[in-house]
Amino acid sequence: MPIGVATIYDLAASNRAPHNLVNHRKAMLSRADVINKLLSQFANPRYLEIGVWRGDTFFQCNFTHGTAVDPAFAFDVEAAKQANPNSNYVAQESDQYFCQLGPDVKFDVIFIDGMHTFEQSLTDLQNSIHHLAPKGYIVLDDVIPNDYAASFPDRNKSKQYRSIVGELGDSWVGNVFKTIFSVSAFMPAYSYATALENHGQAILWREARPPGLPKRDLASITSMQFADAMIQRQIWQLKPLDEIIKISAKRS
Ligand SMILES: C[S@@+](CC[C@H](N)C(=O)[O-])C[C@H]1O[C@@H](n2cnc3c(N)ncnc32)[C@H](O)[C@@H]1O
Repeated sequence: MPIGVATIYDLAASNRAPHNLVNHRKAMLSRADVINKLLSQFANPRYLEIGVWRGDTFFQCNFTHGTAVDPAFAFDVEAAKQANPNSNYVAQESDQYFCQLGPDVKFDVIFIDGMHTFEQSLTDLQNSIHHLAPKGYIVLDDVIPNDYAASFPDRNKSKQYRSIVGELGDSWVGNVFKTIFSVSAFMPAYSYATALENHGQAILWREARPPGLPKRDLASITSMQFADAMIQRQIWQLKPLDEIIKISAKRS
């Protein structure tokens, strides 16, 4: 029997603690809900979204200045600009965008939701940290795969596999989960946690973590599979969003 979305997420969220399951089911937050809560921590929030597609999240976000980056916007960019003159739209791949961005351009919240591979999400993360305001947040989408097929880096392979084994659904989040393992091992100057109330948005902020990093082993992160991630699911550090904001607000 295929494993349903809620089942696998609940396993990740629960750490086998039933009270967490109840919290998760009671309060689902959208991507924009999470981002707006973070944006509301700033007086004049500057927002960057990498991978925007139809604008389902971007158009819901409450920013003073917003930048949307996507090589293939699925909406009328001119109409969007006219509807909100404080937004701008860059029809490029993220690498190209970051490579030409002046070093002084900073954002308070950066949402990474472009190409869902380990390599690209890690590159987007590395590029984003240069442009993060001192008290800013980076949100990395889709860090928890729903199931095995959702975790393939190649979307076509994921579809092919589902069709061969007769699995319904088409969920695909790629192998972005490996980026969280990399943050945990290689970015000790950044703290992070994953919002408990939705599908898996990790939130990072600049604050050194206490000593005691996991063993640094790039080869084992690169070769990880879905099962390895689920076995080590504490890596996501699932917490209610309000708690994440409270913890991160205490940084000096
Ligand atoms: C999952 S959708 C984004 C959804 C959107 N963030 C939302 O919340 O509604 C992924 C988008 O990433 C874009 N994309 C793919 N590769 C990209 C890249 N290298 N740089 C920026 N965007 C990319 C795709 O064109 C697609 O529109």
